[in-house]
Amino acid sequence: MLGDVVPDAELWYKAGLACEINRLKVERNAVILGHNYMEPALFHSIPDFQGDSLELCRMAAETEKDIILFCGVRFMAETAKILNPSKTVLLPSMAGCSLAGSITAADVRKLKERFPGVPVVAYVNTYADVKAESDICCTSSNAASVVRSLEADAVIFLPDEFLARNVARETGNHIIFPTKDDLSGITFEPDHQLIGWQGRCEVHEKFTVEDIQNVRKQFPDVVILAHPECSPEVVDASDYSGSTSAMTQYVEQTDAPRYLLLTECAMADNIAAANPEKHMLRLCSVRCPHMNQITLEDTLTALQTTRHVIELPQDVIQRASRAVERMIAVS
Ligand code: 13P
Ligand code: SF4
Repeated sequence: MLGDVVPDAELWYKAGLACEINRLKVERNAVILGHNYMEPALFHSIPDFQGDSLELCRMAAETEKDIILFCGVRFMAETAKILNPSKTVLLPSMAGCSLAGSITAADVRKLKERFPGVPVVAYVNTYADVKAESDICCTSSNAASVVRSLEADAVIFLPDEFLARNVARETGNHIIFPTKDDLSGITFEPDHQLIGWQGRCEVHEKFTVEDIQNVRKQFPDVVILAHPECSPEVVDASDYSGSTSAMTQYVEQTDAPRYLLLTECAMADNIAAANPEKHMLRLCSVRCPHMNQITLEDTLTALQTTRHVIELPQDVIQRASRAVERMIAVS
C-alpha cells in the first residue's frame, strides 16, 4: 500500500517500529488516534481511528481503553483529556500549533469585558484554558453551523482570522478584528456581527491565488481543494473547501483526472496510498512543523515510558468540557 509513497528502506525500518507499537498498544490497553496529517507510514500502520479534529474528539470521548495515545498536536490531546478525564492521555511529542499559540485565556477575558454578553466561539485549535473561557467550540467541519446555532446578533469567533472570514461569508455576517492593542478604542456597533482575532495557521496562510493560477496553467483539469484555514481569496479560487476528512471524502467520491490539496502535504500521500488510482499533485514546500514532530520513534517511547502525559487543572477541565460537549451536541 505504501510502496509508491515511502522508500523501501524506510518502510522496512518503520514496519519494525509499527509492529512493536501495535504489540505494546494491546499490552497496555491503549487506543491510538491518528490525525489525517500524520506521515504515511505512521498513519497507515498504528492508529485504531484516523480522522479530522471532530471525528477524533468523538473517538476520544467514547473510548473505554485505559490510555489514549494521540498522534496529533497538543491542543488535540488536551481535548481528549477534557472529554475523557479519567483516562491517561499521552502525546508522543509536545507539539504546538501557531493558531493555538496566538491567543491566551487573558485575551479572551479582555474581549468578554469589552463585548459583554456576546457569546464566544473557540476554534478547537486552542489550548484548554482558552476553551474554558468560551461558550462553545467549533472545528473546521462545523464552524458555520455552530455560529448559526447560537442565534445571536453578535458572536466572538477565535482565533483564526481566515476561518472567521470564511465563516462570515458563509453566514452572511459582517466581521471586525479588534487586536490586543486597540481593544479599548473599539466601539461596538450593531453591525459588528462577528468579532474575530488575528491568529493565523502558519501553513495555510502561505497558499496564494497565484499558486492556484500556476498549477491550473500547467494542469487545466486539476481539481483544487482548500482547507478553510486558507484565505477567502484562496478558498474562492479553489473548487472545494472542507475539513481534512471532508477533503479526503471528496477525493474518494469524485472522479477527476488529478487533485491538489492546499493543506499539510502528508495528507495527499495518505490519500494516494489508500487510493492508488487517484493522481495527487503536491505543493510540499509548505509543511506543518508541529504535526511533523510526531514520529513512530517517539510514539513507541511514549507507550514504553508513559511519556508526555496530558495534565489539566480540574476546574479548567470542567469549564472547557461544557464548551466542547456543547459543540458535539450541535454537530
Ligand atoms: P481538521 O479539523 O480539518 O482536521 O483540521 C485540523 C488542523 O489543524 C488543520 O490545520
Ligand atoms: Fe496548527 Fe496549522 Fe499545523 Fe494545523 S496545520 S496544527 S492549524 S499550525
